[in-house]
Amino acid sequence: MTTIIDGKAFAAGLTTRLAAAINDAGVVPGLAVVLVGDDPASKVYVANKERTAKALGFHSLAHRLPASASEAEVVALVRALNADDAIDGILVQLPLPKGIDARRVIDAIDPAKDVDGLTAVNAGRLVLGEKSLVPCTPLGCSLLLDAFAGDMRGAAAVVIGRSNLVGKPVAQLLLQRDCTVTLAHSRTRDLPAVVRGADIVIAAVGRAEMVQGDWIKPGAVVIDVGINRIVTSAPEKAGDGKGRLVGDVAFAAAAAVARAITPVPGGVGPMTIACLLQNTWQACRARRGLDPA
Ligand code: GUN
Repeated sequence: MTTIIDGKAFAAGLTTRLAAAINDAGVVPGLAVVLVGDDPASKVYVANKERTAKALGFHSLAHRLPASASEAEVVALVRALNADDAIDGILVQLPLPKGIDARRVIDAIDPAKDVDGLTAVNAGRLVLGEKSLVPCTPLGCSLLLDAFAGDMRGAAAVVIGRSNLVGKPVAQLLLQRDCTVTLAHSRTRDLPAVVRGADIVIAAVGRAEMVQGDWIKPGAVVIDVGINRIVTSAPEKAGDGKGRLVGDVAFAAAAAVARAITPVPGGVGPMTIACLLQNTWQACRARRGLDPA
């Protein structure tokens, strides 16, 4: 029987424990989310982050700047948040509007407050295997694997997609678990054959249902990071008329052979916000000296 991994329930467990720990500690962690411009998907993500953080007892404020904001203005806001003692975590929502160098903005974030784990300092620490703030979606993937994949030592893991946000950090987390990691990408030769050799598949390419069911090795664990909206001609499946969400994996066919698989929606997605709040709590404890020595 294939396990359909319930990311929503797993994330809810995580946030419940987080809320209890924060309540016990009697502190209010502060999270600032910076949104520049009016990318519709980013607006939804930022509103969700702000709402969930507030519901768990965080001090959370979204800072919204117009698309016309200059790089210097965004960096100035980040520096002001670095200096704000009530703020433990800073996240700059990506993508940033054209003309703003995302690398320069992200590296302006104090690494101690970098709850997205995207600064060069935290990315470097992750590669070195040092304690760091780990990017939220990769962290969510690794927590699901820890819970559902069993012993990963020596397993063949294939990560499809080499982004700084997901593919590269997730590959590092798998390496830390002693997997033999292949980081596949758009230039990989014979991707189906590469995936067929994998005990663990992480799909993070952003292409609807690209990974076919017959690419999946029987008994593999499949983590689908993709969130793609497809327009369907079948009215009964179209939902709200805006199409439906699918992952990077052809779910039904893959689920027929996998040992465990995440659905879309309801798999990795809910883990991202839970991990953002967990990271903010980690940053808060470290900044305020709440961790045992
Ligand atoms: N845009 C899409 N996903 C993310 C994320 O995890 N962090 C940031 N900062 N921007 C994103």
